[in-house]
Amino acid sequence: MLDITSLKKTFLDELNSVTKLAEIQQLRVKYLGKKGLLTSKLKLLSALPPEERRSLGRSVNELKDLIETEIDLKESLLGEKERKERLVSEAIDITLTGKYTPFGREHPINKVLAEIADIFVTMGFGVEEGPEVELDYYNFEALNIPKDHPARDMQDTFYITEDVILRTHTSPVQIRVMEKVKPPLRFIAQGKVYRCDADISHTPMFHQVEGLMVDTDISFSDLKGVLEAFIHRIFTPETPVRFRPSFFPFTEPSAEVDIGCIFCDGRGCRVCKGSGWLEILGAGMVNPRVFEMVGYDPEIYTGFAFGMGVERITMLKYSIDDIRLFYENDLRFLRQF
Ligand code: PHE
Repeated sequence: MLDITSLKKTFLDELNSVTKLAEIQQLRVKYLGKKGLLTSKLKLLSALPPEERRSLGRSVNELKDLIETEIDLKESLLGEKERKERLVSEAIDITLTGKYTPFGREHPINKVLAEIADIFVTMGFGVEEGPEVELDYYNFEALNIPKDHPARDMQDTFYITEDVILRTHTSPVQIRVMEKVKPPLRFIAQGKVYRCDADISHTPMFHQVEGLMVDTDISFSDLKGVLEAFIHRIFTPETPVRFRPSFFPFTEPSAEVDIGCIFCDGRGCRVCKGSGWLEILGAGMVNPRVFEMVGYDPEIYTGFAFGMGVERITMLKYSIDDIRLFYENDLRFLRQF
């Protein structure tokens, strides 16, 4: 009735076949639980006569102790085994090198654009902008460059339609701003411009900074003062500056501004073609015809305008001899700035 021996044998067999921690819990319930195999044997004891109860009771209790000890032992062994397996399978190699994400940096052109803006802003100039896809009217006509004017040949224009082009300079922003506001005004405009041209010193897209100042008594000496102050800050305070007569349809008189050659200190070299000077920008007093186009009275107002190529200034500032380097995205070049 109380076959302790065979129960013990079944238990030990079952215990032997247990390989997972979860199964141990089931085994515990099966034997020691409220309705467990051993528990039910213990219950039967009470129905026996006292002598039998005593001796049988001892063996049942011994078996109970054995089952508890064996289960606890197996549980801790399996627990340890599973913990070790998990440590191995979840191992992280903390000696592996991390993923390297290189930091980007500002493009030299953007850096110089910001520097130029800073200098003019400290001189009280605002910052304006205009569209890169521009009307022929703003890019040429309103700047006193009529349709058949030979001055259009100075700039190789990308046409989108007969009236819509990619702006060839930032000067159209002068017109757009003057149409909106009345003098006095002073601002710069920066941005991309486009000309169908490509060689060691030309790219089809490049950057310009335009400047315009209009008031009742602006003279050529204001233009000189502002541009000299600018050049002495963007290059060095010792940089020689020279104004040379030139022509632009939208300024009169017009000038080209040169700085002393930074490669030979003005002695004359291959870069400055022996002249000792390098041209860096165009400028002049606003042509009264332009004022008329925007409805300003040229008898009351005078002003100056200037325009410079940012690639050219950057090349001179950092002694770069090929403009195409700016747009080849060679990190060895870009990382130097
Ligand atoms: N827009 C002229 C150019 O590209 C430069 C300029 C601007 C000249 C303003 C005079 C006044 O080439």
